[in-house]
Amino acid sequence: MNFDLTYEQKMIRQSIKEFTENEIAPIAEETDKNHKFPRETIKKLGKYGFLAIPFPSEYGGAEGDEISKAIVIEEIAKKCAATAAIVSVHYLPINLILKYGTEEQKQKYLPKMITGESIGAFALTEPNAGSDASNVQTTAILDGDEYVLNGTKCFITNGGEADVYVILAMTDKSKGTKGITVFIVEKDTAGFSIGKIEEKMGICGSSTAELIFENCRIPKENLLSREGRGFKLAMVGLDGGRIGMAAQALGIAEGAMDESLKYLKEREQFGKPLIKFQGLQWYLADMHAKIESSRFLIYNAAYLKQAGKPFTLEASTAKLVASETAMFVTHKAVQLHGGYGFMKDYPLERMMRDAKITEIYEGTSEVMKIVIASQITR
Ligand code: CAA
Repeated sequence: MNFDLTYEQKMIRQSIKEFTENEIAPIAEETDKNHKFPRETIKKLGKYGFLAIPFPSEYGGAEGDEISKAIVIEEIAKKCAATAAIVSVHYLPINLILKYGTEEQKQKYLPKMITGESIGAFALTEPNAGSDASNVQTTAILDGDEYVLNGTKCFITNGGEADVYVILAMTDKSKGTKGITVFIVEKDTAGFSIGKIEEKMGICGSSTAELIFENCRIPKENLLSREGRGFKLAMVGLDGGRIGMAAQALGIAEGAMDESLKYLKEREQFGKPLIKFQGLQWYLADMHAKIESSRFLIYNAAYLKQAGKPFTLEASTAKLVASETAMFVTHKAVQLHGGYGFMKDYPLERMMRDAKITEIYEGTSEVMKIVIASQITR
């Protein structure tokens, strides 16, 4: 087994690192403070090809791989978890259209999404369909050549900023999960509006919105795959999305670790740098061990996805471990910074706030355990 990154993967890490230092780190604090969606940054990420990495060239992709994609999210999250969240969620609808779309749908949506000209969102969650993803109550009724959508989605990442929404709706309630269908909805469609924009604990630069469908008519060509396959598509999409969210969590943890090492070397108490205190070194050792474990789990899940092998178990394990690592590491990093860690002048308090969502979205830690248990007890 070869654990080395390839030359291309190392080059991608180097270039996204430089991009993040120059373009993302300088505005990360402002993005958080002003809850400012970094649209220009997303456009630039598209312009420089970072959004195109794992996709086929016929739609403008760069024919890269899933580990590189995870590295891009990880590096961005080291400096700005909100931007990493936007990118990771943007990939989810792209993956679904790529895997299940018709050629017309792919030609219509993918080139613009891959260059960051248009942003994607994935809308599953509803007031009564969170962890229980099967309880979708938004309906889609076929009327002639159009589907008519009615219902409300909530907590939708990129909501209000996205141009292309991949949404789940019930086409036949009597069939349970097999009555759920996925549709593509464009932002300016009549009958589709944005409701409440959420105020959040963390990832404040990303947008999280309610979506409202009131007799929203979409052409039947916007059906993704076929009626009744929606739940399966969502699960497949989330399997991939969870690798991205795990990479985001890893990046947050690494960012907090970098800050901690820097601070402990600089800060002196009792006549010596804090880094010389064994008690604090043990914190660093625990943080390092969890970060390294997360990285191997994530890259392994990404490798399996790239190889076309099953990766549901590995993706949910990676997300469980990486998100708990992000919480552990940021919590310890704030502690290592003492009073400074608690102040907004340092990025640690932001990192700790940002870390929390990784244990919640795209499946809570509890849902990850359901998925893991169901896989290992088959
Ligand atoms: N791949 C393919 N198919 C899958 C699958 C997978 N990973 N997981 C389940 N399925 C299939 C099953 O095989 C089954 O198919 P059959 O009926 O043909 O056998 C069908 O789907 C139903 O499966 P389950 O009976 O296991 O479904 P369930 O209702 O018990 O739910 C669950 C299982 C894992 C809890 C699921 O509901 C789940 O993942 N919930 C969490 C949803 C989630 O992540 N929500 C977050 C919202 S999205 C978000 O956060 C996006 C964002 O903006 C950041």
